[in-house]
Amino acid sequence: MPSLTGKSCIVTGASSGIGLAVARRFAQDGANIALVGRSASKLEAAARSMDSFPGRRVIVQADVTQEVETQRLVQQTLGEFGALDVLVNAAGAAYFLPIAETTLDQWDEVLDTNLKAVFLLCRLVTPPMLAAGHGDIVNIASIAAHQGFDGGTAYCASKHGLLGFSRALALEVRRQGLRVITVSPGSVDTPLWDPMEWSPDRAKMLHPEDVAEAVFGSLTFSGNASVDELIVMPRDGVL
Ligand SMILES: NC(=O)c1ccc[n+]([C@@H]2O[C@H](COP(=O)([O-])OP(=O)(O)OC[C@H]3O[C@@H](n4cnc5c(N)ncnc54)[C@H](OP(=O)(O)O)[C@@H]3O)[C@@H](O)[C@H]2O)c1
Repeated sequence: MPSLTGKSCIVTGASSGIGLAVARRFAQDGANIALVGRSASKLEAAARSMDSFPGRRVIVQADVTQEVETQRLVQQTLGEFGALDVLVNAAGAAYFLPIAETTLDQWDEVLDTNLKAVFLLCRLVTPPMLAAGHGDIVNIASIAAHQGFDGGTAYCASKHGLLGFSRALALEVRRQGLRVITVSPGSVDTPLWDPMEWSPDRAKMLHPEDVAEAVFGSLTFSGNASVDELIVMPRDGVL
């Protein structure tokens, strides 16, 4: 079974929720990880929670919606680890509002974080991965990539866009050794829901560790296969 031991990974959104759980799962397997987010204190706490695991962690404080910051984070990762094997795009933003109450700033934040940032990072990591002849990109989409949700115009647009982007990129790079894996979870009990006025029953949601296990399993179950797309739902379905 392939392993992530010693692999060089970037995980965006690594300070909270799904990204944090993914980073912790990779760290348990001995991966070297660049932990990316905007809040240094949250990243430091995340890194501390992995102190007992093998492998190395570096904190990269960066806003992934900003091109220069994505350039710096990829250069820093390559400088620290000398290679780049895995990119996980887990940074995300969400608002659920009627369209008339959705501001342009909220629209831009959601589209920039969930879609533009993934484009920026994939554009940067594919040349070194193609030069190495291997590399895995995992994009955390959502069940909102596959269906509409009332109040979710911006979020659904960003995730439908991300699914289309991932499908096209997978076709572009797969014959040259790269895998692009799109993981679409249903609702997951993370801090993303904290500011929302309404949420589904959080006790019935997936745990971030469920998604992390799906990501880890997709990357490691067989080096001969590519899990192109994976939908992971709470047992009760859409809540
Ligand atoms: N929770 C769910 O029900 C659910 C379901 C399906 C899919 N998803 C998707 O899963 C992904 C992770 O969501 P989550 O629930 O884990 O959310 P979360 O707990 O709120 O975590 C979001 C993470 O993204 C980081 N982040 C946000 N904007 C950023 C930016 N501009 N630059 C760098 N980092 C940024 C945050 O750190 P800072 O704020 O410090 O930057 C944080 O680490 C998102 O794409 C989300 O759409 C979530």
